Amino acid sequence: MSPVPWSLLPDNASVGGDGQLVIGGCDTLDLVAEFGTPVFVYDEDHLRSRCREAVEAFGDHAVYASKAFLCKAMAKLAAEEGLGIDVATGGELHVCLAAGVDPARLTFHGNNKSVAELRTGLSVGVGRLVVDSFDELDRLDHLAATEPELFEGDGGRPQVLLRITPGIKAETHAYIATGQDDSKFGFTVSTGVAHQAVERARAADAYDLVGIHAHIGSQVFRVDSFANAVAALGAFANPLGLDELIVGGGLGVAYVEGEEAATITQWSRLIQKAAAEAGITATVGIEPGRSIAAAAAVTLYTVGTVKDLPGIRTYVAVDGGMSDNPRPVLYGSGYETFLARSVLADRTETVRVVGKHCESGDLLVREGGVPADVAVGDILATPVTGAYGHSMGSNYNKILRPPVVFVSNGDARLVVRRETPEDLLATDVG
Ligand code: LLP
Repeated sequence: MSPVPWSLLPDNASVGGDGQLVIGGCDTLDLVAEFGTPVFVYDEDHLRSRCREAVEAFGDHAVYASKAFLCKAMAKLAAEEGLGIDVATGGELHVCLAAGVDPARLTFHGNNKSVAELRTGLSVGVGRLVVDSFDELDRLDHLAATEPELFEGDGGRPQVLLRITPGIKAETHAYIATGQDDSKFGFTVSTGVAHQAVERARAADAYDLVGIHAHIGSQVFRVDSFANAVAALGAFANPLGLDELIVGGGLGVAYVEGEEAATITQWSRLIQKAAAEAGITATVGIEPGRSIAAAAAVTLYTVGTVKDLPGIRTYVAVDGGMSDNPRPVLYGSGYETFLARSVLADRTETVRVVGKHCESGDLLVREGGVPADVAVGDILATPVTGAYGHSMGSNYNKILRPPVVFVSNGDARLVVRRETPEDLLATDVG
């Protein structure tokens, strides 16, 4: 295998004097000496430039889907760049508020928001509430009847959008396709339920129905799926005369050699063109997550064992695994790999990169390329781990979650520290 494709590395990656990976002007081997492994290293300027692309195209109506990657530093960064933030749970809401994000810039999603979550969202004054079901409309009615003060905040009446299921099947993994009728999300258009929801929300006194939302899925490469979704949204929403349409996120990103994805700018243009063609006059918004964060980061691990099974395969075990990147296990997702000490080296050996969890399924890279001299102690990197890695991490096997380091212009700042053994006991009261 040839060297790792350069296009998969963060924008500000370069090669140091000894052939090693440098990101944002920081030598990754020095970062490892300082912060240990595993570690997520994010190119901060890469994140900022993707945010700017979205804001350039959609202004105030560009919203970062925080489920992709969230910590206080990321929430602040997105807000500084002018993005709103999509939160899907009370937990994501909590982190954004802790980061000082203006609640008016938050869009509160979720297919099963609890009364407590709704109460918090209303009391802090989230800018948009995206309602997903009749049960949630019931909860809002109940809250309006019992706690009317929640609906009378300084920001005026709550602004509500309804999430519809437009009946568009996106080409992606079944677990992350959400636009088809057979989905747990949203009000189905084809059965007439979405229209009933509109009538009901319009009749409500306590809040204002301002728009319609749809999100067809994630890691979608075929941009015509988005054009179809916009057309379906237009057909449904135009006659309603509402102010806003949100077309969700979902733009695919390249993870491995040979994959190609549209840029945020290209995707945005396509959506705007489709919206014009569909006769949409409402303001259109987007919610990118993966396309902002994924390619901004690499994960660095230390190789702990190299197990050569002649005629079968070689296993390279690193000091992380499915607890810092569950995507290969969950979706069969592919990743590239290379050694941080020699970015441009040919990767002549094909190995299976596995973690340190007590499961045979704990693999990070099914068929990864590494130079022939890979050895215990080497720093192995996997690129494009900035989205849905850290955010989907776990403590399985009581492994300590890795730190997150932002690098920019030769400076490295720790934004999430490594967990400690004490953290593992922080919630244990027995
Ligand atoms: N808006 C809504 C309402 C969403 O549900 C999502 C993602 C997004 C925006 C952002 O989509 P993105 O631009 O990141 O594709 N864990 C999976 C991905 C789940 C996506 C869930 N919703 C993975 O690792 O592939």
